Amino acid sequence: MRVKDGLLMAAGIDDIAVYIPRLFVDAADFASARGLDPAKLQKGLGISQMAMVDTNQDPACLAANACLKIMQKNNLSPDDIGRLYVATESALDESKAMNSYVIGMLEQVYGSESFEHCGGIETKFACVSGSYALYDNTNWIRAGEAENKHALVVVSDIAKYDLGSSGEMTQGAGAVAMLLNDHPRLLAFDPKVTATSIKDEYDFYRPIGKETPIVHGQYSNLLYLIQVKKALDAYKKKVLSTGLIKLKEGESFLDYIDYLNMHLPYSNMGKKALAYLVRHEWRTLPRWKKIIEKIGMEEPSPKDPRGTIESILADADFMAKDHQFTKLLTNTEEFQEIYEAKLASSLIAPKMIGNLYTASLYLGFRSSLEFEYQKGVDLAGKRIGFGSYGSGSSAMVFSGVIQPEYESIVKEMNIETEIGPRKKLSLEEYESIHENKLSLNQNILDGKKEFVLVDVATNPEFRGQRRYVFNE
Ligand code: CAA
Repeated sequence: MRVKDGLLMAAGIDDIAVYIPRLFVDAADFASARGLDPAKLQKGLGISQMAMVDTNQDPACLAANACLKIMQKNNLSPDDIGRLYVATESALDESKAMNSYVIGMLEQVYGSESFEHCGGIETKFACVSGSYALYDNTNWIRAGEAENKHALVVVSDIAKYDLGSSGEMTQGAGAVAMLLNDHPRLLAFDPKVTATSIKDEYDFYRPIGKETPIVHGQYSNLLYLIQVKKALDAYKKKVLSTGLIKLKEGESFLDYIDYLNMHLPYSNMGKKALAYLVRHEWRTLPRWKKIIEKIGMEEPSPKDPRGTIESILADADFMAKDHQFTKLLTNTEEFQEIYEAKLASSLIAPKMIGNLYTASLYLGFRSSLEFEYQKGVDLAGKRIGFGSYGSGSSAMVFSGVIQPEYESIVKEMNIETEIGPRKKLSLEEYESIHENKLSLNQNILDGKKEFVLVDVATNPEFRGQRRYVFNE
């Protein structure tokens, strides 16, 4: 951590802006078109609407629109930005980083070569890469390399699955831009406690040239939980060894995390993850005995507790009992209390927007700030824990503390206003866009005061070159 005038300097998130495309598919319409019970989406997965891109939008446009918003809101000029990182798993090119497109768009507004001094890369590790980008830029600031400039980290994705696949109901699109500096008004990251886990896996991946991922849905759900738990165990060791959290008899370190934000491929994944982590944490504490009594059944274990994920998923008897146990646990007063207090507010915006891959954790964070503040909670000093997961697979667990100046930012937050007027797509419109049947200029919305894509070259010499304009 940087030291100035004998004081440790913070590094973290100063402000946050979201850009969400204004087209959406309604979960009930989608369910009836696919012959599904709407309750499976709305209650089972926690999805009400899924944001969709227009024909003339791509992940670079979404990222540039979010960056422009945060720069305009804070009256920043390109000179104030030292680094611009884009985290995405919707890459447009195998070589050229999405940053270049974003810089190119921003320079249409701020002037040619205005970002010339600015460094940055596109980061990739499925949905977790935004967290690595935040961590690396936080450390750039802590190392004293920033020279009074900010880092801009933007997470941007279009979550798109094959028509008719089980992932199709967990789509969405959007970008979240985060401004980082050494005097953050919003959140200062806790130093020396960030923890990671990593393993070569094929739960969800997108081979080169394929537009949509190959997904092993239930495998990915369980792997997410296991990987986050591993990172959480490493985080726990670090918070205890650094003295960040000091536990008394019978306490869990979760008691000291005021809010939890989880990666949200669909909003109920947050609740699933909380139940899994709570179970893991509370199992050895005196409070567990009372909870088991309330649940009325012992915690089940698989036939082969050391087996593979496949063997656990194939153990039908265990899976059914485990599902029942989890449902009973989530109905207990103890779980409901921690769910309502620490997680529920982070799920509100994601329910309205859907999966944003890299950006979903940060949309949840943004949601939690807005809706907790609206409850009248004073957020200053509250510790926020983040559980980030990327398929393939890696998890990162870290935390930060809300800063005293947070209110000047959070009081202005209103996700509905920030999205703007939305337009519901018919299923026919949605499928035409999804299957790329419409050309770029057959856009549904006018996209005023936004960057839009106007051309993708097809002639061999310039194939793949993309041209964007700022729509006045
Ligand atoms: N009424 C109410 N609830 C219902 C219902 C009904 N009629 N029918 C089903 N449900 C509930 C189920 O009980 C289940 O809830 P619980 O898990 O709490 O029991 C929920 O709805 C989902 O039902 P299923 O598990 O049967 O759903 P599915 O197998 O058809 O698909 C999915 C779910 C696997 C997540 C699928 O949508 C998918 O493959 N999604 C893409 C992959 C993904 O998101 N993985 C998440 C982890 S990996 C990751 O996080 C990286 C990333 O961003 C992709």
